[in-house]
Amino acid sequence: MSIPMIYPELSADCNIYAGKSITSLVEKYHTPLIVYSMKRINENISRIKEAFDDFPVKIHYAVKSNYNPFIVSKIISNGTGIDAANLNEVKLALLSGARPSDIIATPNNLSGEELAEISELGVTINFDHAGQMELIREKLPETVSFRINPGIGKGEFAGITTAGKNVKFGISKDEAMDAYKTAKKYGARKFGIHMMTGSSVLDPEFFRESSKIFFSIASELSRSLGIEFSFMDIGGGFGVPYSPDALPLDIKKTAGYIMENFNEFHKKGYFESTELILEPGRYIISDAAILLASITSIKNSTHRIIGLDTGMNTLIRIPLYGAHHEIKIAGYNNSVYTVPSDVTGQVCENTDYLAHDILLPDVSVGNVAIILNAGAYVSSMASNYNLLGTPAEVVIDDGMEILTREHSTLDTMLTGFLK
Ligand SMILES: Cc1ncc(COP(=O)(O)O)c(C=O)c1O
Repeated sequence: MSIPMIYPELSADCNIYAGKSITSLVEKYHTPLIVYSMKRINENISRIKEAFDDFPVKIHYAVKSNYNPFIVSKIISNGTGIDAANLNEVKLALLSGARPSDIIATPNNLSGEELAEISELGVTINFDHAGQMELIREKLPETVSFRINPGIGKGEFAGITTAGKNVKFGISKDEAMDAYKTAKKYGARKFGIHMMTGSSVLDPEFFRESSKIFFSIASELSRSLGIEFSFMDIGGGFGVPYSPDALPLDIKKTAGYIMENFNEFHKKGYFESTELILEPGRYIISDAAILLASITSIKNSTHRIIGLDTGMNTLIRIPLYGAHHEIKIAGYNNSVYTVPSDVTGQVCENTDYLAHDILLPDVSVGNVAIILNAGAYVSSMASNYNLLGTPAEVVIDDGMEILTREHSTLDTMLTGFLK
C-alpha cells in the first residue's frame, strides 16, 4: 500500500521522509539537520530531459543552489554538466568529477587572475561584459561567450530578478555587437551566448517571451557579425511551488515554447549547429530536501512565538527576500494545524522569523519542525552569524543514509582566525 504524501517523499502524517523515520533521523544525527532525497533530485533532472524530448539540450546544474560535494558528484556522474559562478565553483565541479568541457562559468566581477585560471582549466566563460574579456585578452578561452540582458527579467522577488532594468548583470544587444567584434579582433573563432533573466519563475509564458527575444538577439548578432554560435545558454529560473496554493511550473509546456521559438529561427537558417544549454538549480534540488529543527522554546504572550534551534542563519532567504517556506510538525497531520504562531530562531535580530502568524498544531518543546523546500539556496546561503552552527546534512540514496556534512562546531567556525 502506498503512503499518502504531502510533499515529495514526505508522508502525510509527517513521520516518514524518503522512506526513513524522521524521529530516528533526529535521534541519530540531531538537529538542525537537512535531509536530501537523491531519488527526487534524479526525478527532477529526468523530468526536464523528458520535457525537451530528443531536442539537443544540455543541462548544467547551477552549483550555487547547493554545493554539497557528495550531491554534486552524484549529479555529475549521471551525465549532467555544471554551471559555476566563480573559480571555486569551477574547482569544486572538477574535484567532483566534471570534465572541463562539461562546465560553463558565468562569473561576476572576477579579477584577471581568476578569469585566466578558469580559462586555463579549459572551462568556457560567459563574460559579463567586454571589460571582463579584456582582462584576459592574451589567454582567451577557445570559445568566447557574453551574457546578454535581453531587456526583460522575472524572478519571484526583485532580489532574484537578474535581467531587465537596474540589474548589474550582462550587456545589451548593441554592447554585445561591439563585444563580439572585439573578440573576433582578438582571434576568437568560436562563440556562445548566454542570458539569465531571474529565478523561481512558475509561468511558462515568461520563458516563451524571453527565449524568443534571446534567439532573436542571437540571430541578429549572428547575421550582422557573420558568426555561428556553438551554444546558446538560456540560464536557469525554472520555479518550484513554495506555497500549497502555488501551481507547479508546467515544464512540458515551458520546454515546448522554448523549442518552438528555437525551431522558428532554425527554419530560417539560423543555429544549424548550435547546442541549447539550460542551467537549472532550484528546479533540481529545492523540493528534494527538508530541514529539521527542534522546538526549543514556546512563549505565549500576546501571541504564540515558537523558538527553533535554527533560524535566519540557515534560511536567510526568508528575511532577505520575504520568501515563504512551509513548516510542518513531525507526527502531526494537517487537520490539527489550528494555533496561530510565529516561528523564530536563535539569532539576535528581529528579522529572525521563519514565519509570521501561521497555523501550527499545539506543539511542545522537543517537537520537530519540518521546513520544506530546503534543498536550494538554503545550505549554500547559510552563515555562522552569532557563532551558530550550520546544519548537518544527510543524503538518502537508494535506501542508504549518508552523512555528508557534520554539524559545525566552535572549532570549525573559528578555523582560519588567529587565536
Ligand atoms: C547565471 C545563473 N545560472 C543559473 C542560475 C540558477 O538559477 P535557478 O536556481 O533559478 O535555476 C543562476 C541563479 O541565480 C544564475 O545566476
